[in-house]
Amino acid sequence: MSETIERKKRILSGIQPTGTFTLGNYIGAIRNWAKLQDEFESLYMIADLHALTVRQVPAELRRHTREAVAMVLAAGIDPSRSLVFVQSHVPAHTQLSWILTCNSQFGELSRMTQFKDKSAKHPDNVNGGLFTYPSLMAADILIYNADLVPVGQDQTQHLELARNVAQRFNNAYSPTFTLPEGYVPKAGAKIMSLADPTRKMSKSDTNVNGFILMTDDKDTILRKCKRAVTDSDGIVRFDPAEKPGVSNLMTMYGVFTGKDMAAIQAEFEGQGYGSFKQAVGEVIADGLAPIQNEYSRILADKAYVDQVLADGAAGASRLADRMVQKVYKKVGLLQL
Ligand code: TYM
Repeated sequence: MSETIERKKRILSGIQPTGTFTLGNYIGAIRNWAKLQDEFESLYMIADLHALTVRQVPAELRRHTREAVAMVLAAGIDPSRSLVFVQSHVPAHTQLSWILTCNSQFGELSRMTQFKDKSAKHPDNVNGGLFTYPSLMAADILIYNADLVPVGQDQTQHLELARNVAQRFNNAYSPTFTLPEGYVPKAGAKIMSLADPTRKMSKSDTNVNGFILMTDDKDTILRKCKRAVTDSDGIVRFDPAEKPGVSNLMTMYGVFTGKDMAAIQAEFEGQGYGSFKQAVGEVIADGLAPIQNEYSRILADKAYVDQVLADGAAGASRLADRMVQKVYKKVGLLQL
């Protein structure tokens, strides 16, 4: 990497290749990855090792990993400015992860809400990886001394743990890790399910009407928006506590039009939810269309995707290997 890039502050973020990304992934995270890559030296990672904490069909995991890379690139991540790589291609992450696991407390790992949620959801597979998941995520971040981590709201607890582990390590040994800050968008940090707006939009939802996928066609998007659960007072007003469904749709409309909530409220004053939902569906479909075209084009170009990943893994490994050597030395592992 060039000297000018090295002087910039650094970003690291990741996404699991557990299926097609939702609009929540896009609005909460990936959209911001694209925006931040000019200002920061950026590393974006497909977290395939994290995906293994839930049972995967091997062939599907491989396919989803390729699709995830293509989608990240289609959403505007430019591999000439950012490193794009697959987590398992940079083994240093797992090496550091062990050291950080030994510096993470059982109590703090037990308090992670994602661990509790996923344990409840997969009671037959509450594996050790699910429990130590946050120390691998801490390794992903700390190994690059990332200054900023753009994520949605559901990842902020993991980020806090990464900061605590970093601080603990720095105190126990000597200053080693940068304490990372979260970059959580003001609007859209938690996009809610269209079917149950009190819950997060998630691709693992069994009700397909709850989420919009990045690959959904216009008719599907319009239909899902039309069916979105709202309320009975018929007024387009932003009030997440009292009107979570309408507020969620307004947030999405705002993201794709750049309008603020007051402007959206004024625009739909005196109109019923029917025309509002139609308008929301239209701007989402129109906003996703260019990404979908790019996605198909990139996914078909296997050689290009492979090259991006090879370059990404090489660039990331150079940085990550150096950090692991430093940490191994600090904790007293014998160097030859
Ligand atoms: P993952 O794959 O669950 O989600 C990827 C990103 O999408 C955000 N997100 C949302 N944002 C708004 N509304 C929603 N409904 C919504 N659903 C998901 C997530 O907050 C996330 O930013 N552990 C991470 C992956 C990871 C990682 C990392 C992230 C691994 N290592 C290091 C940052 C840094 C995860 O499972 O994200």
